[in-house]
Order: sequence, then C-alpha cells, then structure tokens
Amino acid sequence: MSVRQTPGLEYATVLTRVDLFAGLDRVTLAKLAAHLEIVSVDAGAAVVRQGDPGDAFYVVVKGAFGVYVAPPEGEESRVNALGPGAPFGEMALLTGRPRSASVRAETPAEVLRLERGRFLDLVRREPQIGLALAATLCERLRRAHVPSADVSEAVTAGPDVRTPAIVMPAARPARRPTFGTAGIAVAAAVVLGTWLTSAPSGLTPAGWRAVGTLVAAVPILALDAVPEGILALALTAAWVLGGVAPVSVALSGFASTSWVLLVSVLVLGAAIAASGLLYRIALWIVAHSRGGFAGQVAALTVGGVLIGPAVPNATGRVTLIAPALGELVDALGYAPGSLQAAGLAMATLIGFGQMVGVFLTSSTTALLVFAVLPAETRRDLSWLTWAAHAAPTSVILLGGLVSVVIWLYRPQGAERAMQPRSGALALQRALLGPPSRAERLSLLAAIALVLGFVTQPWHRIEPGWIAALTLGALALTGVVNGETLRSVNWSFVLLFGTLASLSAVFGRAGVDHWMAGVVSAAVQGLAGVPVVFVAVVTVLCFAVSLVLRWQAAAPLLTIALAPVAAAAGISPFVVGLVTLIACNGFFLPYQSTTYLALYHGTGGGLFTHRQARVAALAYGVCTLLALCASVPVWRAMGLL
Ligand code: CMP
Repeated sequence: MSVRQTPGLEYATVLTRVDLFAGLDRVTLAKLAAHLEIVSVDAGAAVVRQGDPGDAFYVVVKGAFGVYVAPPEGEESRVNALGPGAPFGEMALLTGRPRSASVRAETPAEVLRLERGRFLDLVRREPQIGLALAATLCERLRRAHVPSADVSEAVTAGPDVRTPAIVMPAARPARRPTFGTAGIAVAAAVVLGTWLTSAPSGLTPAGWRAVGTLVAAVPILALDAVPEGILALALTAAWVLGGVAPVSVALSGFASTSWVLLVSVLVLGAAIAASGLLYRIALWIVAHSRGGFAGQVAALTVGGVLIGPAVPNATGRVTLIAPALGELVDALGYAPGSLQAAGLAMATLIGFGQMVGVFLTSSTTALLVFAVLPAETRRDLSWLTWAAHAAPTSVILLGGLVSVVIWLYRPQGAERAMQPRSGALALQRALLGPPSRAERLSLLAAIALVLGFVTQPWHRIEPGWIAALTLGALALTGVVNGETLRSVNWSFVLLFGTLASLSAVFGRAGVDHWMAGVVSAAVQGLAGVPVVFVAVVTVLCFAVSLVLRWQAAAPLLTIALAPVAAAAGISPFVVGLVTLIACNGFFLPYQSTTYLALYHGTGGGLFTHRQARVAALAYGVCTLLALCASVPVWRAMGLL
C-alpha cells in the first residue's frame, strides 16, 4: 500500500464524481482536497483490519474491495463488496470503537484517505456529508435485514444525496458554567463596590462607577460568562441607570463612522470570502510563498505593513483579511487550532493590526495622535519624516516580532513534515475552475474599496461611508444577500459599538483627565534620563490600556505627557509614538477590538486565546525593547 500526496488535474474529475461529495460546492470541495491523500492498494492487501483502532476514513476511487467480518469464534466471511465512490472506515471514527470489519482490495485499487480529525471536522461542518453517510449506513442495515441479497452482485457505491435537507448544529466548545458563574459573581461584587464606596480624590462619583463597570466586564469577558452582545447591552444599561452617561453618550459608538466601517467591512468580507475569491488568492499566495512556515510568517507580516498606509483602519484591515486567513491556513494543510495556524494568525495580527505607527497613515489613531501633538512638533513632521523618525522602532519591532513568532509557533516533530502540497494545490485550483461572476464582482468591490480609502485626501468621504456604498453596490448584484448578513457575528458587532462608546462615556464622567493627571504626576521626575522616561511611559501605557481603549488612551496620554517631555528636551513625537504603540497591547482579549476582530473573523476556532497570550507577551517585551533601543538613534536624529 503506498501513499502519495494528491496529484493534480486527473483527480479533479474523479473527486467531482464521488457521490458522497456531490452536495459540496466547488470552494468546499477544493478546501477538502487539501487534506486528501491518494493511496494505491495492491490486490489482496487490507486497507483496514477488523479490531484495529480507527485513524482515517476512505473513499474508493478505483478497483473492487471486499468487506470481511470474522465472528469471535468462527470463520471470516465476505459480507459486502465496495466499488468506486463507496465510502468506508466511518464507523470506527463516528463510534470511537475498533474497526468492525476488514476491507481488502480484490483488484489493484486506489482509495482517497482522509485523516480522522479532518473527517470529523468535515462531518461537523458539512451537513450533506453527514446525511450521505447516514444514507450509506441505512442501506447497509437494510441489506443486513434482507439476507437474500446477493453480495457479489450488490456492489455498494456511494449514496446519491445531492441536496442538503438537514442542518447539523456546529460543534460548540462547552461552556464552563462554574467559572462563568464565578466571573459574574466577581463582576457583581465590583459593581456594588464602586456603587457603594466613595470615589478616589479627583474622580467624580460617575467616573468611579464608569471605572467599576469596566473592571467588572473583565472577568465576564475573560471567562466567556455571557455572550458579548449581552454584555454590551448590560454595560450600556449600567452606564445609563448608574447616572454615568445619558443614553445618547452611552450608545455614541454606534453613531460613529468606525462602527459603520466595521459592519460594512465585516459583511463585505463575508461576501468576498463566500464567493471563493479569497480562497483563490490564498491558494495563489501559497503557491508562490517560499521558505516554508518562516516565509509564510514573514510574507503575512510584511504584506500587512505595506497595505497599512492604504487602509488606515487597523481593525478594518484585520476584519477584511480574517476570512482569507482561515482559508490560507486550510490551503496550507494546517489544522485549525494547531500551533502553526495560531502562528500565522499572530503574524497577520502583527502585520495588519499591530504595526500601527510605521507611517502616519498606518492607523486612524496615528492620525489622532498627530493631531494632538503641539503645533511646532506637527510643523516639523511630514508623512515622510514621520516614517523616518518612527523607522528605528518600526524596524526593531517588526524584526523582533517576526523572529519571535517564527520561533514560538514553529512546526515541531510530525508537523514539520506537513508542508504545503504542490499536487494538492493544482487539484484545488482545478476544482475551483475559472473565476465565477461572484468572484469577479467581489474583486471589483475590493479594488473599489481600497481605491476609495487611498483617495480619501481628495474626496474627503470617510472610510465608513465608502465601505457602506460599496456594500450597497454589491447587494444590487446579488452577491451580498440575506445569507451573507446571517453569517456575520452580530454579538461582536454589538460589543464593538459599546467599546467605541467608551471614550465618550469616560470623557463625560471625567475619567480621562483624572487618569492623565495620575500618569503625568507619576513620570514628572523621570524625564531627565530619556531611556528611563521611555521605559516608564511604555509600562504605564500597558497598564492604562487595560482600562482605556487604545484609540482613546494614546491621544490622551500624548496630551498629558507632551508638555512633560518637551520641558526635558524630549520631542513630543517620541511620546506620541510610545503611546501609539504601547497602548495597543492585546494582553487580555477584551482590550483590543483589532484582536477580537481577528479572533471572531476567523470563526473563533483558528486559534485559542491561550495560544495568542504568548504572542501578546512577546508584543509587550518587543515594544519595550524596541522603544528603549530607539533612544540613541533618536538622540542622533536630534529628537532628544
Ligand atoms: P469501520 O468499522 O471503521 O471499519 C470497517 C469498515 O467496513 C466499516 O467502518 C464500514 O465502513 C465498513 N463496513 C462494515 N460492515 C459493512 C457492511 N456490512 N457493508 C459494507 N461496509 C461495511
């Protein structure tokens, strides 16, 4: 029995003829092809043996097979025959019991082999497959009840199930009720605590309650105690009922163009992904990427940094790339939840979401920070001088993070051998066929979107409206429809709107100025030694970002610290860059809407928060080192 990786075009036709896969669309079939192996079997050889543990599922491609069952005390007998298109080996995988029979080739033959984990994942995700397997099993049972059936005549082929009739619920990770309840109890205690105690000096009672509700949200989010959308509504209710902010302020995040941008780009991304375009692009990247896992990490990170200035909204960028990432990981043959899948996700997050200070237009927050710098600092800064002044940090941070991700998530042991398969790629591309109408329209929409963003300085239309209009145009063509809307994670959309309201709520309650005062008092005496000043401000930013959103924390701390720095001869640009980069951590998932956009945009199953935590810590360490190491270069540039 010899295993080879899926060869190209000749098998595209074979696969489309397997009845078990008849209900799958071409994109799903192409994705599945990445994981199939062709196994050649000599006449007389067994593919599965009775009593063995089940490790894979098979479909006959060529030749004839016999199914043999040996009773505990007796002779083995041939109970059935299998021909091209017939599936076997599913029973041990579905029941977790040993193989119920031996399946032996009776002529030289070939089978498609799908590894156990992939098979179970496929059955969970594709209801048609489960239905087709059920039909196969029923047919076998029926034959067992009709002993007269002549097995030598009745060669079983695959069932003919072409339309999905039932929808199996996707497997959900089990909730942890005990931890969830504990999280809710802690949250309630924190809210009560801040409601019943008096505020620290300088903070209004409303501000104290605002801080309390946010701190209370931490255990709920961290322990996944309630769905995010519910938490978002509960937070809003707490702010309004607690007198922290009126409803118009508490919901102001939903009246922002960044929320419109997020929703529009989420729906557009879902439509573009469903069209198969992103998968086609992902296959193209895979076919052209060099250097294995390290090359893939570098390509994703650098690609993200280069796209940055064209699409200045970091969360928007991540939201758009997230569905493609899942498909890229699929095409590369990495399992969702594997170390490499997590590594590629972290490379994407860093390139598309975390390198926010490389160019002035790498993020809307960079523009915001620029806007609050003192007038004389702004006069000295153009788009190019910003990039030049930020370059020492950008280069060290990018280099450090790429190396760390390659090291932390590198393939190990057996996974090392699992490299992209060139034969499988050819087969996948053949199965996709020429670009469909939906793909062509999706490509046009994506180009229009990016062009609209890039030309914003001329037409001055905000990215949110550009995305909404593009979405409208795509809906007219039918590429976006009700099904697309249903595929969006609305729970996250609700949370995003509420988080986007945070800065207005905090501003209203006076939390922002109180926090800025506390921070500037703490660093006042340190400005004489620039490297210590930079290090302390960085660590302070890490702490503040646990409570305040990056988009609010960075400009706020810049306003507070720019005068302190300027008085000590440090350019306020340095403060702006430090706050911009250091307030953008993702140590805890709830902290960063960019991180959450990646997590949910990839379906929540590509990587776990635990896998991401180590990259988050590395981001913290690399940020601290990169900023401190830039001090001598900034001195040479005359910024200190
Ligand atoms: P599994 O038990 O995993 O391994 C042996 C396989 O043989 C089994 O799954 C079925 O796919 C197949 N099989 C078992 N009994 C029969 C039968 N009576 N007719 C056809 N196929 C069978």
